[in-house]
Amino acid sequence: MADNTHSAEDQYFTSTMTLAQMGISTVPESYILPPADRPTLELTPPSSFSALPLIDLSSLENPVRQSQVIEQVQVACKEFGGFQVINHGIHVSLTDEALDVAEDFFEMPNDAKMRLASTNVHEPVRYGTSVNQVKDKVQYWRDFIKHYSNPISTWIDLWPSEPPTYKKKMGNYAKAVLLLHTKLMQIIFKSLGLRSDYLQNDVEQGSQVLAVNCYPACPEPKLALGLPRHSDYGLLTIILQNQEGLEVMGNDEKWQPVPVINEALVVQLGDQMEVLSNGRYKSIVHRATLNSEKKRLSIASLHSLAINKKIAPAPDLVDEGHPSSYKEGSFEDFLKFLSDNDILEGRYIDTLKQNADSVYEAK
Ligand code: OGA
Ligand code: NI
Repeated sequence: MADNTHSAEDQYFTSTMTLAQMGISTVPESYILPPADRPTLELTPPSSFSALPLIDLSSLENPVRQSQVIEQVQVACKEFGGFQVINHGIHVSLTDEALDVAEDFFEMPNDAKMRLASTNVHEPVRYGTSVNQVKDKVQYWRDFIKHYSNPISTWIDLWPSEPPTYKKKMGNYAKAVLLLHTKLMQIIFKSLGLRSDYLQNDVEQGSQVLAVNCYPACPEPKLALGLPRHSDYGLLTIILQNQEGLEVMGNDEKWQPVPVINEALVVQLGDQMEVLSNGRYKSIVHRATLNSEKKRLSIASLHSLAINKKIAPAPDLVDEGHPSSYKEGSFEDFLKFLSDNDILEGRYIDTLKQNADSVYEAK
């Protein structure tokens, strides 16, 4: 099934970088969203407002203050589905270099990038555009390179060999963010009343996919999106962004921009976390908006259990008052869903829900 002929004719597409470099003054019709799905960019909240709580991890080593961090994480996960972290232990030189080399990658000529192009969602390294460029009814204004990243020694040889520093710079960031993920999962398990070493081996040996996203300046940011509303499939997604554009949906069903905070990373709960917590925590719905001024880059590190490993609600979180509300599912199951469905028409998490009121109509 794996198709290694990356440069096959049918994989060819026009990247959004190409469109932006052409200097077009309107977006092609294929990018124009139906009015109901268009972003509302004029709502700029006051600068002190933050869509997600900001959590300082520096007190984790201190046993007294550690419990305060766990409490903050619990509130953030329950009420918001995510948070931002500072003092997370990843040095700014690593985040800067990862963003720099991401930028250099997307600035390369088409041919160099197209060698990695594939529409096969199972490909461990894949350059593409939109979400699922073959299936998307509307195209999204995003180019991406995604690559499997854990264990890094298995995958790094397949990563882009140009720019020449890509593997080193992106690799250093990938390794650092993997450690941060393990640390965050320990805190989250504690916040759920589970042992901090719950599923430790499965988490450490889990899948990590780096999605390196490029959203070029868009001539009509009010008509298009970089990514449509969706939740991520995994446990946690850790996002590094160089400027605003990410929006999360609040409990009031309103979109809130996630501000860029100096040296902070965004942490979002994914569908596997919702399943594992038996619905105590919900995966967060988010999207990426565009702007007409500047290209935006983001690096989303998507963590889940290993590709074939099914995740079910933690037995300690299932009792008479909280019957198991989800069927088990794996990253592999999600990929099948992604290749068979338009993600705007249904969420993967809804296919796993067992309550009668949210039965997903499989096509
Ligand atoms: C993603 C994602 C958001 C962003 O890659 O799944 O939601 O800001 N990215 O790029
Ligand atoms: Ni996402």
